[in-house]
Amino acid sequence: MLDKIKELAGSVQQFQANSAESLEQFRLKFLSKKGEIGQLFDEFRTVPAEMKKQLGAEINKLKQFAQQKYDDAAAALENAVSDDSRHDLTRPGEPFEIGTRHPISIVKNEIVDIFSRIGFTVAEGPEVEDDWHVFSAMNFAAEHPARDMQDTFFVEKKSMEPDPHDILLRTHTSSVQSRIMEKRQPPIRMIFPGRVFRNEAISARAHCIFHQVEGLYVAENVSFADLKQTLLYFAKEMFGNDTKIRLRPSYFPFTEPSAEMDVSCSICGGKGCNICKGTGWLEILGCGMVDPNVLKNCGIDSEKYTGFAFGMGVERIAMLKYQVRDLRLYFENDIRFLKQFKSAY
Ligand code: DAH
Repeated sequence: MLDKIKELAGSVQQFQANSAESLEQFRLKFLSKKGEIGQLFDEFRTVPAEMKKQLGAEINKLKQFAQQKYDDAAAALENAVSDDSRHDLTRPGEPFEIGTRHPISIVKNEIVDIFSRIGFTVAEGPEVEDDWHVFSAMNFAAEHPARDMQDTFFVEKKSMEPDPHDILLRTHTSSVQSRIMEKRQPPIRMIFPGRVFRNEAISARAHCIFHQVEGLYVAENVSFADLKQTLLYFAKEMFGNDTKIRLRPSYFPFTEPSAEMDVSCSICGGKGCNICKGTGWLEILGCGMVDPNVLKNCGIDSEKYTGFAFGMGVERIAMLKYQVRDLRLYFENDIRFLKQFKSAY
């Protein structure tokens, strides 16, 4: 039996674990109940009493030796695995998802940036407004259809008649013009980005919530030529240097004269395509010279000062810029749609 113990000690000594599998085989062979050392313990019961002391000590020594060998090999294997993963500097970094800005924010920021480069500063006004700032101060006649329940979401309506104290969701950012002009004297050179609300059925081309950017410049000797040049600058910055603009006479209660501005279609270069419906032009904003009545309503001397104003829809410009045909996509917040827009803005 002593020879057997020596022989086993020799093989334990020689064992080298180079994988988890070989280590497991070592455990089964030597350390498990039915393994070599377990069998020695079984045989040990039958040895003569006078040899028990010596043999018992030898078997225990062998068992401890094998166990030690096993523990050391297991620790070495473990270290080898974790060392590798801790120190492999060539492994790619953990992917870290960052969000993207909403396309409407990107376009709004770009518009703000373009105007701030020529000295326009930014202000915002309340979305829940009174009739005075949205309509009355802005020279809307009492019977103007925009004041109708059909078009405007009212929060608090005094009576069926229009009342400057009625509370409503603003239908355009022009309301910020009156808010600002009541508080400051010219020169005023500002833009007002914001959300507006209209009682419209939702479709690919219309939504009851959308965004506008309003512009206002009031000072001495502001002329229509200043307006035109400012808008030409904007169109070129926004849609490219070759862009042309065209002003068509129009009507808004708060400007006189009023115009709508088209830009040459950036998609077909003015030749005519299905985006510009074959005309080569795309309408992007309304504008005009601030009506003297509006200046008076807001406490500004209309003899001394003149001004121009303009207002544009952010969704409309985003649709042209990104060629997204369905407005509803901007409101669904489907992440597969949103993450396609990457920008410096
Ligand atoms: N408020 C107008 C609208 O929502 C847009 C507009 C037109 C704004 C002419 C202006 C302007 O400042 O001068 O349709």
